[in-house]
Formats: sequence, structure tokens, C-alpha cells
Amino acid sequence: MRARPERPRDPGFRVTPGGSVKAEGLGDGSTACGGGHRQAALDAATRQNPQFQVLLDRIYAAVLPEVADLETVLNTTDPQQLELLFAFADEVRRRFVGDGVLLRGIVEFSNICRNTCWYCGLHRGNRALPRYRLTKTQILAAAGNVHAAGIKTVVLQSGEEDNLDADELRAVIEEIKSSLEMAVTLCVGERSRAEYRFWREAGADRYLLKIETSDPELYRRLHPGMSWENRTRCLRDLAELGYQTGSGNLVGLPGQTLRHLAGDIQFFRQGDFDMISVSPFIPHPQTPLAEAPAGDLLLTLKMTALARIVSRNAHVPATTAIGSLHGRDERPRALAAGANVIMPNFTPAPYRQQYEIYPNKRCVSDDARACPPCIERMVEALGRRVDYSRGDRMKME
Ligand code: SAM
Ligand code: FES
Repeated sequence: MRARPERPRDPGFRVTPGGSVKAEGLGDGSTACGGGHRQAALDAATRQNPQFQVLLDRIYAAVLPEVADLETVLNTTDPQQLELLFAFADEVRRRFVGDGVLLRGIVEFSNICRNTCWYCGLHRGNRALPRYRLTKTQILAAAGNVHAAGIKTVVLQSGEEDNLDADELRAVIEEIKSSLEMAVTLCVGERSRAEYRFWREAGADRYLLKIETSDPELYRRLHPGMSWENRTRCLRDLAELGYQTGSGNLVGLPGQTLRHLAGDIQFFRQGDFDMISVSPFIPHPQTPLAEAPAGDLLLTLKMTALARIVSRNAHVPATTAIGSLHGRDERPRALAAGANVIMPNFTPAPYRQQYEIYPNKRCVSDDARACPPCIERMVEALGRRVDYSRGDRMKME
């Protein structure tokens, strides 16, 4: 986590009381879901909800937004206010990261895990799950498939393995960097600073480590044997070592309140992360939370929008969990609420099914090569385009 920078004003972008989002750029018909009807609805929403506009503007401009303001937004179910929130986030997204939707190809190279996160299907107590670890050759072949699809970032993800071989992962990173010239994102959990440095020196560019919840007490309840302090230590180390650092949370965890979620948004703002990933919790039958209700889609979309508004130029994925939650692909709604990244899965069969963090994960039975064209259709239907560039950090050094 970096030291929190001062928040500069952005002349030309404030949704002001009595003003409309149209005046700030949404009403030019350049978005597929724009057009006269949408703008008329936004204008009416603006007129009828001047205080809500002020609230969004205050959250956007704040160095640290107030919990009460964030809770108000998270609480609303008013259709006009929701429309204003998503339009605001969409405009911040357009201004700060543009219309392109970046792709990151994910390779889940091991589902072995030493931890016992209560929500996660990979937790070590799940004996029903066949465990696997891909060989170096298999990982490189999967990374080659990502490259062949024209995608310039590979995300190497795994459970948190006790026996993760740091040298072997280093060799994989070096090979990808020298032969494929792609950005490498690691997502292998809490490790020592020395390991993080070792992989960074090998060329790893980015690291994803979700805080899951910013509330230390809720974190403690859901992660036996783990510590919130160590997780934040990891995030600090990663940023100090020069990784483009991503974090994120789960929405709808049992015991989680809107206040906790407001705290998560504050945490994202304070951490000034390069990437922020917001996912709904999806219960897995082989976990202690099997009977808990899933996270709410609308709340997840509101969190995605707020993450965009406070972070401005972070990369925010329309997460696979959003696309899996109700068996329908709701990622377009996340893309319309501030998201700008999609992460197609390149884990080879049959392992892809075995990386079962939650059930009914989207696209597990598809051929990975089918994903980019499918995503292109989804993105183009929104009047946007897939961006095949690396999509590096947009924060100032
Ligand atoms: N071990 C690494 C770590 O801890 O960062 C990466 C693997 S972990 C399985 C990847 C992410 O899966 C977690 O950060 C968590 O947010 C998500 N996840 C786990 N169980 C989930 C569930 N039941 N519903 C939604 N997301 C879940
Ligand atoms: Fe594996 Fe949580 S159960 S990191």
C-alpha cells in the first residue's frame, strides 16, 4: 500500500448540485446504452435527487470518504439513485481509464492450499476436492495459449501452498518474460517479503492479494489461523517492492454489514491500489458456510461503482464471480458500473473444474480459445472495445 496521495481536483469533472451528468459528458450518444431515453432518465433523476448528486460528488472529491456517505449509497434501492450512481461511476471510468476493456488470461496452476478460509472451496479441509499442481511445462503451455489469444497479461494463481517451490515459480516467470514478453501477475497468497522480492527480481510485474474484508475482527472469524495484520503487511511489502498491487473484497460474507463494506471502500482509497476486485460471496457446499446466502448482486455492483469512484484510475475487473452468481452472465452490468477488465480462464482441462473456489463457475467447460471472441461480443454490445494492450498501472509513480 502506498502512502495516500493528496486528492487533486479535476477541473471539468464534477457532478454538481443541479447539474446533470449529461453536461459532464455522458449524453453525447457515444455509449451504446446512451441515447435520448437514457439521458432523459438521467436528467429527471438528477432533478429529483439533488442531494444524492451532492453526496456522490462529495465521495468522489474526498481524500477519505465518510462512512455515513458510503453507507447511504450502499443502502439505496431507489432506481433513480442507482441510475445516477452507475452513470457517475461509468463516467469516472471513461475519463480515467477510457472505453477499452482489458483482458488478463488467468492460469490456476495449483489448487493445493494450507489455509482454511471459511468461504473457499479450496480450503485444506475439503477432502472431496481432487488436488493438482501443474508442471512447469503445463504452465508455460497455458501461458502460451494466453499469448496466442493476443492477451498480454498472464495471471498465475494458486491456493496458498506450503510447498510452493519459489525457484520453480521464478523459472516460470523468467521463461514467460523472456520468450513471451507478457506482463506477469502473481496471485499466490501470503508469502515472505524475501519471496516477493525474489519473484519481482525475476520480472513479475503485478500481484493480487485481496484483503477480503477490511474489518480485522470479521477477518479473524472467517480465517482461522491467519492474521489481518500479516495480510496488510504483505500488501505493504508488495507495493514497496514495486509491484503493481491489487486488492479487493468479498461482498455478502456472513456477519458483514454495510459499515464493513464502507470500511472496505475506505481501505481501497487509502491503499491507492492499482487494481481492485469486488466479488460476491458464493457459498460452496464443502465449506462451513455451505448454508449461508450468497452475496447480493446489486450490492456487489454498488461496491464496484464506489471502488471506481474513489480509486479513479485503478483497473477494476467485472469479476468471474459476478458472471457466475446467478447462472447468468452479469458482467456487462459491472462493466457499465465502472469496471474495465475481464479475466478469461486459460487453466487447462480437467484442472479448470478442480479449481473450484465456488460452485458453477462461469465458462469452466469451454475451450479457452472461445473466450476472447465471446468477450468481444459482450463488450461491443456495450459500445466499447476490447483493449489488447498490457494495461499497466495508471497511478503516478
Ligand atoms: N491463495 C490466493 C489468495 O489467497 O490470494 C489466491 C487464490 S484465492 C482462491 C482467490 C480468491 O478467491 C480469493 O481472494 C477470494 O476472494 C476468492 N474466493 C474464495 N472463495 C470464494 C467464494 N466462495 N465466493 C467468491 N469468491 C471466493
Ligand atoms: Fe486457500 Fe483461503 S482457503 S487461501
